Amino acid sequence: MPTLAQLLSNNRTWAAKVKQDDPTFFERLEAIQRPEYLWIGCSDSRVPANQIVDLAPGELFVHRNIANQVVHTDFNCLAVVQYAIEVLRVKQIIVCGHYGCGGIAAALGHDEYGVVDNWLRHIKDISFAHQQELNRLSDKEKENRLCELNVVTQVKNLARTKAVQYAWNRGQTLDIHGWVYGLHDGLIKDLKVTASSRAAVDDIYQLHETKRGSRPNASTS
Ligand code: CO
Repeated sequence: MPTLAQLLSNNRTWAAKVKQDDPTFFERLEAIQRPEYLWIGCSDSRVPANQIVDLAPGELFVHRNIANQVVHTDFNCLAVVQYAIEVLRVKQIIVCGHYGCGGIAAALGHDEYGVVDNWLRHIKDISFAHQQELNRLSDKEKENRLCELNVVTQVKNLARTKAVQYAWNRGQTLDIHGWVYGLHDGLIKDLKVTASSRAAVDDIYQLHETKRGSRPNASTS
């Protein structure tokens, strides 16, 4: 396990190398942030967003929480989503779960860990909603499938947010993708559940295109 002094030393080596390869790299990044992607992933240390899609600093706006959830009362996530869409004007949002997710495994079990149990209740609810499908599977298959069903659900949850619906109402290009990363091989599976328009939003969650349905002060370009 590296010490903190080693981490700081690593940082100096890294910064020097980046500057050697691209002398104006940091000046350019300091001036402006213009990522095309918002990444919503799990906090798991084994799923580092930039590294697994090989993107440099400045190319990915990132939000991570336990089990990559988009909960409609989580103002942290909602603020990230709104800022990414309306100010940074990202074009793609990627919800990336991962097989072997401890949060998913915990949600399928009965042990208590603390506050995180409340956070994982949302995953238990997904499991309960799909219990017929899940109960036919072995324990391992069940865990893997719930990782996928969770991502599918979070893509839907994102499509239901005001920020996303306002963007689509304005005609802003915005695609939401659902991916799952494999800890065992480092590869990402596209679940092919991309949401790109209001058609992805079930009627009860739809905001109609009234004056409240498109934030007036957001850029319309
Ligand atoms: Co996880």
